[in-house]
Amino acid sequence: MERAPKSEFFHILRTQQFDRVVLDELCDLTTAIRKFAKTKEGLHYLRGLLAHKRAMLYFTQPSTRTFLSFNNACQILGIQTSEIRDPSTSSEVKGESLLDSLRTFSSYVDVVVMRTKEEGLAESAADLFDHIQRRVPIINAGSGRDQHPTQALLDIYTLERSFKDHGGIDGKTIGMMGDLRRGRTVRSLCYLMKNYRNVRLVFIAPDDFMMEEDIKTHLHQHMVQFTETKDLRSVLPELDAIYITRIQDEHDKAGESGRVDLSPYKFGVEELKHMKPHGVIMHPLPRRDEIHPDVDLDPRAKYWRQERNGMWMRVAIFVKLFKVDHLVMHGHLLD
Ligand code: CP
Repeated sequence: MERAPKSEFFHILRTQQFDRVVLDELCDLTTAIRKFAKTKEGLHYLRGLLAHKRAMLYFTQPSTRTFLSFNNACQILGIQTSEIRDPSTSSEVKGESLLDSLRTFSSYVDVVVMRTKEEGLAESAADLFDHIQRRVPIINAGSGRDQHPTQALLDIYTLERSFKDHGGIDGKTIGMMGDLRRGRTVRSLCYLMKNYRNVRLVFIAPDDFMMEEDIKTHLHQHMVQFTETKDLRSVLPELDAIYITRIQDEHDKAGESGRVDLSPYKFGVEELKHMKPHGVIMHPLPRRDEIHPDVDLDPRAKYWRQERNGMWMRVAIFVKLFKVDHLVMHGHLLD
């Protein structure tokens, strides 16, 4: 199978596939797209870019923002969409294998975006598609507790944008708090950190939800510094950003989340007082009670902007995937 050049990609399966060149290109592209979208003329231009493409949104695991942001990204680019969100409405109930269903999607569309509870399914689908005549790209929109690569891309964009006047992500200390063991967003984001210079990670979690060994081994191998703590307050003043996650109790086997004291892992107005003046507070959402709503009004709270950035980054992903990025980066409307 012919491989895409280094600065291009076909499938998006896991964040290990991205290097700094692609990350910077996607961030620049996202910013350019946001500029286009500020005017009616620019939005009209974007809507014609991929009007000849069709996308399948196969989301059989619950989702609000990933589904809506992909759906709206398609609308912005003129991409027509089909969707399955409930497998009981597909021929899987007649005994069709999921891989046969996926192959069927490839008969009708030009890209398949999939969110599933199974780990590794996007990889299996990509492997299948790499061996059939009508090869279409797979985008992993969240696979079990393993990976959420497009979330990590929008997180990188949010961090870069937030630190635009402070040297970007390089050199920053980034805390990650909550259910790090089963949080696919933080796992995917960790894999990207090797692309940035002198980043230090601080994992803040109870023992039961501390980051898994596979991620720690990866960070060691790529010389990304990290420390672990249970004490949020003691590390808060040194953090440039804190990425807070909810408990992923949908992965519980026997109610184990309920037996862990999570009260030390919440962020409220008191915690705000200990953050740097230009600190950044992020959360992939949905949240429960790990961030108090009173924090939302503070300018350092970036999670609602992060959510909206997700739509623009997903527009950029389609633009780059279908190789029309030059029409955006050199678009006359930007002048
Ligand atoms: N962040 C995120 O993946 O949200 P949804 O589960 O609502 O898509």
